[in-house]
Formats: sequence, C-alpha cells, structure tokens
Amino acid sequence: MKFETPAGINPIDQLKVVGKPADRIEGPLKTTGSARYAYEYHGEVTNAAYGYILGSAISKGSITRIDQSVAKAAPGVLAIVTAENAGPLQTGKFYVSRFLAGPQIDHYHQAVAVVVAETFEQARYAASLLKVGYKKSKGSFDLEALKDSAQQPAPSQFGPPPQTLTGDFEGAFKTAQVTLDEIYTTPDQAHAMMEPHATIAKWEGDKLTCWCSIQQMNWGVRDLANILGIPKENVRLIASYIGGGFGGKGTVLADLVAASLAARAVGRPVKLALQRPLMFNNTIHRPKTIQRIRIGADRDGRITAIGHESWSGNLPGGRTEPATASTRLLYAGANRLTRLKLAVLDLAEGNAMRSPGEAPGMMALEIAMDEMAEKLNIDPVAFRIKNDTQEDPEKPGRKFSTRKLIECLQTGAEKFGWEKRQTKPGSIQEGQWLIGMGVASAIRGAPIAKSAARVRLDKSGSITVETDMTDIGTGSYTIIGQTAAEMMGVGLDQVTVRIGDSSFPESPGSGGQWGAASSTSGVYAACVKLREAVANQLGLDVEKAQFSDGKVSADDRSFALGDAAKSGDLIAQDEITYGELSKEFAQTTFGAHFVEVAVHAYTFEIRVRRMVAVCHAGRILNPKTARSQVIGAMTMGVGAALMEEMVVDKNVGFFVNHDLAGYEVPVHADIPYQEVVLLEDIDPTMSPMKAQGIGELGLCGVAAAIANAVYNATGVRVRDYPVTLDKILKNKV
Ligand code: MOS
Repeated sequence: MKFETPAGINPIDQLKVVGKPADRIEGPLKTTGSARYAYEYHGEVTNAAYGYILGSAISKGSITRIDQSVAKAAPGVLAIVTAENAGPLQTGKFYVSRFLAGPQIDHYHQAVAVVVAETFEQARYAASLLKVGYKKSKGSFDLEALKDSAQQPAPSQFGPPPQTLTGDFEGAFKTAQVTLDEIYTTPDQAHAMMEPHATIAKWEGDKLTCWCSIQQMNWGVRDLANILGIPKENVRLIASYIGGGFGGKGTVLADLVAASLAARAVGRPVKLALQRPLMFNNTIHRPKTIQRIRIGADRDGRITAIGHESWSGNLPGGRTEPATASTRLLYAGANRLTRLKLAVLDLAEGNAMRSPGEAPGMMALEIAMDEMAEKLNIDPVAFRIKNDTQEDPEKPGRKFSTRKLIECLQTGAEKFGWEKRQTKPGSIQEGQWLIGMGVASAIRGAPIAKSAARVRLDKSGSITVETDMTDIGTGSYTIIGQTAAEMMGVGLDQVTVRIGDSSFPESPGSGGQWGAASSTSGVYAACVKLREAVANQLGLDVEKAQFSDGKVSADDRSFALGDAAKSGDLIAQDEITYGELSKEFAQTTFGAHFVEVAVHAYTFEIRVRRMVAVCHAGRILNPKTARSQVIGAMTMGVGAALMEEMVVDKNVGFFVNHDLAGYEVPVHADIPYQEVVLLEDIDPTMSPMKAQGIGELGLCGVAAAIANAVYNATGVRVRDYPVTLDKILKNKV
C-alpha cells in the first residue's frame, strides 16, 4: 500500500479497540518473570558456552602483545578470540565503532579479547589472567579544549543540516532591542537501561542465529552481516522482549559481534552479556554538547533573531549530536541561524539516545527562552505563545500537519496552577524549602517509515500478526494487536502478536519515535489485504463488508469470520510506503512541561514535587501505554536535569562513573506527582492510523522546565547540566 494523500475515514476510526487504554498483552509474562530476554533462551539453546569480553585498559594507542599462556590453561577455557585470530572484520553501517580492538585501540574498554569457557565464572576468571601489553599514545578527551578547532561536519541523514541561515541573523541580532547571548552545556549521558546488551549466538553451518537485545532488526541484520562479511540471508536475529533501549541498542554492538565470533571459534552456541561497567565505555552514549544561544526581540517580546550553535565531539567519522534540530521549527522569527560543529575525541562513540539532538538542544533553548522572558518582563508562557508560528519559519508557506503548541501551553498552565507562580525568584518559601515553578515547550519530529506485516486468519476466527517490530518496553505488542483487532473486527484477546524476529516482514523497528506509527500502519496495510481475502473467500463485496464482533457481513449475508478459513488459514502480507506528505507538511509533535520544585534554602538540595505534561501527538493509539511513555520520559528528564553525567577523566580518557552506583538515575519515588494530558487529535497526513510517535516527545523540554523552576526558587541560573546543589551554592555565596 502506498500512502500518498491524507487519510479519509477508515475502519480504525471506529475506535472500538484502538484508542482504548488496553493493558499490555505481554504484561503477565513480564510481571511473572516468564518473558524471556536475550540471555534467557535456555530451551532453544543447550550446550552453550560463555563469553566474556576483556576491555582495553587504555584509551588510545596499540596492543603490543597479548600473553594468553596462563589464561588458556585456566579451568574450562575453550577459546580466546582476538583480532589476531578473528578474521577480517568490517564496521556496521550505523555505528562507526570497531567492535574488536587490535592492534590499534580507539577508546577505553574497546574489546581486546573474548574469552570463551564452560561457565561464566571460568570465562571471567580466565579474562583476568590475560596479560595485555599496550603502547599508549596521546588522546583528546576535552571538548572545551577542542571547541575552537571543531569543524563543520558533513551533512547527515539523521539530523539537521550542519548550517541553516534564514534572513540576516547577525544584522538583526545586532540591532534587536533586547538580546540574550549565553552558553549552555549538557554532559555525556548513558542510556542506563536495565537489561544489559546481551547475545546468544548459534551457528548451524554458515547460518547464524542470535538471540539479542536490539531495537532495529533490519539494521541489525544488515550490520552484523556486513561486519562478519556474510550474506544477510544467513543472519537471523530474535529479540522477543527488550529490557529498555533508549536508543542505546539501535543495532549491532560488541556483544553481538563477540558472541558470533566466539560461537564460530568453539563450534557451540555462546552466551555473552556486557558486564555493567563495559556498557558505559564500550557501547555508545549521548555526547556532551556546548551550545550558544542568541535571541533578539523587540520590546513587545516578538523574536526577530534566533541563533543556535552547538559543538560536540566523536570518534573519527562519528556523527554530530544534532542539537539544533528543534530551533529550526519551534518559534517564529524572520532571521535565523543554526550551526553544528564537530571535534574528534577519543572517547567511546557518541550516538543516538532518546530524542537525539532535540533533547539536549531543548535543554539549552528552553532555558534561554526563560531568560529572555525575564529580560522582557513577560510571563514565560505568554512569551512562548507570542512567538508561536503556524508555518515552518525556515520555509514560509510550508504548514505544520498539526500544531497545537499554544493549546498545550494553555492547558498545562491551567492544570498546573501556573497563575500561582511568582515572577520574582525566591518569593515562595515553605519552612526551609524555597518553591519554584518552571515551564518549557516540547517539540519532536514525527518521522514515519515503510513497514511490512503478515496477518493470518484461522478457522476459529483468531488472528496472528507477524512483523519484525520490537517492543523495548513501549507497548508495541499491544498497539499492534489493537490495530489488527480493529481492522478484523475481533477482540484483542483473539489476536496473537509475534514480533522481534528478523524472519518476519520488515519494519523500521523501535527508534526515532517512528515505531508506533510506522509498525501499526504496516499492520493496517496487511489487514486491508486480509479483509479482501476474507470477502473473496465468502463471496462478499469487500467495499460493503463490515467486520465486527467476530463476524463479517455485507448486504443481508453474515458469516463468522473464521468461516473464511474453513478450508485453510488465510494469509495476507503487505508493506506500507509513503509519498511526499512528509515533505509537503512539517510533521511534528508538540507539548508543554510544567514543574514545581522545592530547593532547600540552606543546602540547596533539589526535590521535584510536581510535574504536568501536555502532549499533542496525533491519534493516541493506547492512552495507557502512551501515558507510560510520557511518564517514563518525564522521569528521564529529571535525570537529565539533576543527576545524570558521565564524568570524563581527561588524563586517562574514559567515563569514570561507569556503573549504576556512580551514574545516578531517578526512580518513581523521587517524584511524588506526575500528570500527563494527551490532547485528542488525529493527523491524517501521517498514515491511515493518523497517529504520531510520543515516546521521545515526552523527554524534550523536561530538563529545562526543571532548571527554570530551580531558578524561580533560588534566583540562581545554572546553565551547566546537571543542575546540582554545588553549582547553586557557588553562585549564592
Ligand atoms: Mo532512538 S534514540 O532513535 O532509539
């Protein structure tokens, strides 16, 4: 099915199943511990050996020797894989990292060797007996020091152009009546998902099957085949359940490569999980940014110039953190500039983390907007509303498919009780706590991608859906089931959803906030085909056929749905592809975040007391799973605002706090009250589902709303995340 013109009325609009807050269909499996994660396929894989990765102890240089004699003789050891005996390895097509070091070392904890043994403990012990000689060379680890020499990056498919210019930014900024010019920084962040990167690899002849934990099956197959130099057809990946990804498991990382090589070396299946400390320096992370925001406005508060520049670093060839993306679309202003600069660093690879670019970019931009509102003596909500735009500010005339930023801000202000906020910082005190309120806008692109599915009807009237979409904790199983149930006129309990297997029809997987809208549209397309097959089988006119309550009827004839499969299952498969609507319209999701904090008047400890988010993201396929996505994102935003930072040791060149004791993330108990309002709407330009993604939108702006609330409580403006008490203290005294 090709989707080229905005969707009209279709069976999804019945909203008997779609749009309802259905419980997760895999919920009981997860809560009883019977949903199996990558490391847990004990039935399918017997006789597995265990792999253990030894990470590099230096950040840059080369390996001079690996003395394996003692390790090899250790109990249970089956093989030791290094660059010397692994055979030729390429990189993948999404990450630039090499997943096995040698002789060159690119970054700390890059895999130097994979030890394979009968048990995990034996593999770990033997790894400790390897004697690796290194020759160190000087690396670069300090983005600040490299800022001035950073270069304009090559254009990337995954972000805004390196530079955009509209009107005369420099001239308009110079002559603006009120101006702001500030630097903001965001630190290196870890995805810190619960389930580690893990793989069980099994070869049967030249065919490789891996049970793994990745978000995009199609990229995974492509990348693993490319890295190992084998045909894509010989690779099958399975990831039925994924214990969190947040962009950190997009495609192949070291666990998949190491397990595959190890299994080939020992002629047995191999299980391998990255030990937690390796996850921080061996895999990918959200890179640090330095951002300069300049805003010029007239005295009435109308923005006349807006400029956003961002610097980040990466391994050679790595991508730029696309922090300027949101600034291109969020506010009006005739004169505009965005610019990205990239430095080469010898830290682990920086790459996608939930809302890449937009999350850290909004952390800067939305503090700047708060500062500007204060300079203009305008309420920060009113200032944002005043600078709303109903067309793409870089391309006048190009409309947003839907845009309700103003409604998000107004609804949020009302729900939150924004009118109680005092403009003057430090005005409200309760006992020893200073109370502050903050706001930020949210914006996140709503990409959509081609997606395929297969659906099967059996004679009992049950439906089975298959697509290689993944569920990283988001609710994919449930919304895919709801889509098929709605289309075929059956209850959700009549639908079996099978996903997370690369042998199923290809979806774009979970990433970029495209998963929900894309994968359900693929299921829609397949169901349109199945409806045709059912009508044909029963001799009904498909245009007139009604599918509801397990029946299919047209004119005055009615059948049980399963009757169409009496003489054998009916199977239909299709793929949805897209025309030009995403070019014609700016397809974007919007929101607003409101936060109340309490800051201790003497210690400056910060507590988040209340959070309200309003989101506008097309049709909400399931308000329960959508709300959970936003609640999770808001919680992640608290981490970004107040806690999360991978601290760089600039001498040795690595992230020091590489475990969950040193890298802190918030939990539910840290935030007593979270409210999510989902504005009801549809976006017919997106797909027949009329839905958009929401999982990444929920994070955009949150941290800035918190930083703004801390300012409102204390009068101290911290522009360097995370906002911690020492930074307040330093400015207070
Ligand atoms: Mo997302 S950071 O593209 O999984």
